[in-house]
Amino acid sequence: MRSLIDIAELSLKELDELIRVAEDIIAHPDRYAGKCAGKKLATLFFEPSTRTRLSFEAAMLELGGSVLGFSEANSSSAAKGESVADTARTVGCYADIIAMRHPREGAPLVASRHAGVPVINAGDGGHCHPTQTLADLLTIYRHKGRFDNLTVGFCGDLKYGRTVHSLIAALSRYKNVKLVLISPPELRLPGNVKWNVLERCSMAYEEVDSLEEAMPELDLLYMTRVQRERFDDPAEYERLKDRYILTADKLKYAGEDMCILHPLPRVNEISVAVDKDPRACYFEQVLNGKYMRMALILKLLEDAKNGVCAEEDVTIGAESGLRCCNPRCITAVEQELEPEFHLTDAEAGVYRCVYCEQRAVR
Ligand code: CP
Repeated sequence: MRSLIDIAELSLKELDELIRVAEDIIAHPDRYAGKCAGKKLATLFFEPSTRTRLSFEAAMLELGGSVLGFSEANSSSAAKGESVADTARTVGCYADIIAMRHPREGAPLVASRHAGVPVINAGDGGHCHPTQTLADLLTIYRHKGRFDNLTVGFCGDLKYGRTVHSLIAALSRYKNVKLVLISPPELRLPGNVKWNVLERCSMAYEEVDSLEEAMPELDLLYMTRVQRERFDDPAEYERLKDRYILTADKLKYAGEDMCILHPLPRVNEISVAVDKDPRACYFEQVLNGKYMRMALILKLLEDAKNGVCAEEDVTIGAESGLRCCNPRCITAVEQELEPEFHLTDAEAGVYRCVYCEQRAVR
């Protein structure tokens, strides 16, 4: 069964096709109104959401299907201790496709192995958020008309910002994309993204701490919220939360056609006055998310109908002596899950946990 857990599972051709379908939905919504009649989408949200959950639901409703689900863990039997695998297997009896958000990294992958229907990762901890990337890509395409030859600034919480990790993974596959990573040292891009994506793709990047100095060279500026819910120490969050605030005044450093993106929700990092600037694209991203999720639902249901399977990953288990030490990984709390690792750098002998992509240790 084909799911979408990580953006890397979609080929460049498939990304192009999703964008083409989304554009067609925008131009001819009436042609898509009954495409999912009789189909059900389950939205299983173990973590808060406004955009992702409601845009998935709006997407399915506009395709003529129906929706069921829950919006917090406490209203599901997870509150009684039910595992992700059993929850997914249960919901797979009621729904044709599932969108799942979970605070534990790797939980949607576990769900995809047990649901018997396609599972879409709607955000797992600080790991990844592939459908936000689809929204980002459509927005970039509509404004820039290309993905090659771009200089992209990512600003804020690059450590825990799962939307950053997924968008970087997508951009790493295009030509001549340069990244400017703007963050305090404490919130820099984690090793699994830096080494596994940037270094492996020989992608040009620099790490800086001044937004004003970076802005003049940027085609796109991707602002992010500091992810309070991922911090162990509230004082550390308080110290870092307002490090970057994009104001209308600071935009004097930016080019006339720089696009400002943000996955939202925002807290303080973009002042409301910036919303009026023609370069502000973040509410367009919200709308584009619905169209891309419509295109994705259509694709995954079509793949399921045609028996398209996910590619098999070659993995090794606990007998290898490897362990995942990430406390946010689903394997840290669901003890019955078999640890699994895949080789990501044969030369250096680097294995990573298949659930959370953190480097495994012996
Ligand atoms: N961008 C995003 O994931 O927003 P929500 O948390 O509101 O779904």
